[in-house]
Amino acid sequence: NNNVAQEVSEPNKQDNILRELNPHLSFDEVDILYHLAVDTSDLEGLKNKYRDVKFVCMGGSRGRVENFARQAYEAMSGYYSMPPDAHTNDIARRAGRFVMYKVGPVLTLNHGMGFGSLNIALHEVAKLLRYSGATDFSFIRMGTSGGLGAEPGTVIITKEAYDATCEPGYEVVSCGKKVRYDATADKKLNEEFIQAAEDLSINYQIGNTMGCDDFYEAQCRLDGALCDYTLKDKFDFIRRANKEAGVFNMEMEANVFLSFCNRAKIPGAVVCCSIVNRLKGDQITSTKEELKSFEQHPLQLILQVIKNRVVEA
Ligand code: URA
Repeated sequence: NNNVAQEVSEPNKQDNILRELNPHLSFDEVDILYHLAVDTSDLEGLKNKYRDVKFVCMGGSRGRVENFARQAYEAMSGYYSMPPDAHTNDIARRAGRFVMYKVGPVLTLNHGMGFGSLNIALHEVAKLLRYSGATDFSFIRMGTSGGLGAEPGTVIITKEAYDATCEPGYEVVSCGKKVRYDATADKKLNEEFIQAAEDLSINYQIGNTMGCDDFYEAQCRLDGALCDYTLKDKFDFIRRANKEAGVFNMEMEANVFLSFCNRAKIPGAVVCCSIVNRLKGDQITSTKEELKSFEQHPLQLILQVIKNRVVEA
C-alpha cells in the first residue's frame, strides 16, 4: 500500500495505469461517465479542472457532502484560489444520481447507500481522475456506522474491512465469477487520521469494519420487517466478530470501498463515527442535533488531515 503513491506520481504514467487496470480503455475515445454527467470529449478541459485533485471525499448522503463542500471551501479559501461558487456548483446535477463538488484539491461526492451505487460512483470518479492526469490522490469515505461497543460520536478508523459473514475483504462478481479481494486501508493515511484525531481531541478507535449489504438482516438487527434469528444468535455473531476478528463497527460500504481502492492502486481510508452502540440496541435514538454533531467528527478529521498536509508542504 505504501508504494502506491510513488507508483502514480508521474503524470505520464496515467495512460499506462488506466490501460493496466482496464486494457479496453484509452484516452483516444470519448468515455461517458454517465452517473456523474461528465464525459471525456474535452480532455484538456478535464485536465485543467481535475488535475490538481488530491482528496476524493465520499459519504452516503447528499446533505453530508454539501455540508463538507461548504466547510472545505471555508477552510481552504486562504490557501487555494477557487471559483466563488466551487462549493455550490453541483457538477453531477444533470445526471440526478449523485452530487459532486470540486473545492480546491478536494473532490467530494455522495455515493448513496450500499454496494451498488457505491461501486458505480467509485468506477466513474476513478476514471475521471485518471483521464484528468491527477496524481497522488487518496480516496476517503466519511461515514456513519453502528459501533460494537463504541458509543455514539466515537470515530472508528478502519484497519481492514470484512464482509457480513465475517470474512476479510470483498467478493466481487466479475463477469459471472466471484473473486475475493483484500480490503485493507492505507497505513500512512490512517496514521494521518490518528494524528488529526489527537490534534482535535476527537474520541477514536482503530479497528476492523464489517461492510454489510443491508442495514437490517446483514447487520443482525432484530427490528427489520423480517427476522429469522434469535437475540442469542445476534449476540453470538456480533460478539464473535468483535472478539475474534477485531470488528469495531458495522456499516454498508467499507469493504467495497477499500477493495476497490486497492485494486485501483489508490490509497484509501474509511473513517466512520458510531451513531449507535449495537451492544446496547438496534434503533438510532439520538436526537437530530446529536446526530448532526456526531456526523461532523469524520468531516473535521478530514479537514485536519488536509490542513496538516498543507502546513507540511
Ligand atoms: N449505518 C449502518 O450501516 N449501520 C448502523 O448501525 C448505523 C449507520
